[in-house]
Amino acid sequence: MRIAELKRESESHVAQAAALLAQAFPHSYADCAREEVEACLEEGKIALVALDGDAVIGFVGAMPQYGLTGWELHPLVVEEARRARGVGRALCAGLERRLRQKGCLTVYLGTDDEFGKTSLADADLFEDTFGKIEHIRNVRGHPYGFYQKIGYKIVGVIPDANGLGKPDIIMAKSLARGE
Ligand SMILES: CC(C)(COP(=O)(O)OP(=O)(O)OC[C@H]1O[C@@H](n2cnc3c(N)ncnc32)[C@H](O)[C@@H]1OP(=O)(O)O)[C@@H](O)C(=O)NCCC(=O)NCCS
Repeated sequence: MRIAELKRESESHVAQAAALLAQAFPHSYADCAREEVEACLEEGKIALVALDGDAVIGFVGAMPQYGLTGWELHPLVVEEARRARGVGRALCAGLERRLRQKGCLTVYLGTDDEFGKTSLADADLFEDTFGKIEHIRNVRGHPYGFYQKIGYKIVGVIPDANGLGKPDIIMAKSLARGE
């Protein structure tokens, strides 16, 4: 497996990355996965793929949001059959290496809980916000657990972002401060 920059002219890789997104997030990308991948290829952004031979088995994008010091990681996907083998970790490590070179201090992301996968779902997160974050439980394999494993911290939530009781969980990692 190797991590490489996704190039607009690699038509097959762009199509495969879009297919991975559509499979993983049918509720979001069933009919616009291609546009999402193309948006990640715009000037100034970063798009990486994990390749096994010529097969795209993972995809990650990132865009600058606060000059070059704060970048948003979005989206991230690993082919279902290849999960839990370090592909997501390798993609994020490749991304972080490139972000450091660009002067990024903080990389952040929002990871939605639309399907009741954490204890933050179906709760009023305007009440005791930080207590609920502190005691978060991963009920059904929500990806926040993955991001914690690779060094991200939960730094906030957007209550009801996706509907009542369906928050976005905001996570961030420092590329400038010590581990
Ligand atoms: C989240 C995702 C990208 C992780 O990729 P992956 O290749 O399976 O992850 P890795 O194998 O690199 O995992 C790294 C570590 O995180 C752990 N991990 C992975 N997914 C996890 C989860 N959902 N909850 C808790 N821990 C998790 C692994 O066990 C591993 O731990 P270890 O280092 O102790 O062995 C992948 O599961 C995926 O594509 N999910 C669907 C799309 C998605 O949810 N994207 C993120 C949206 S914000």
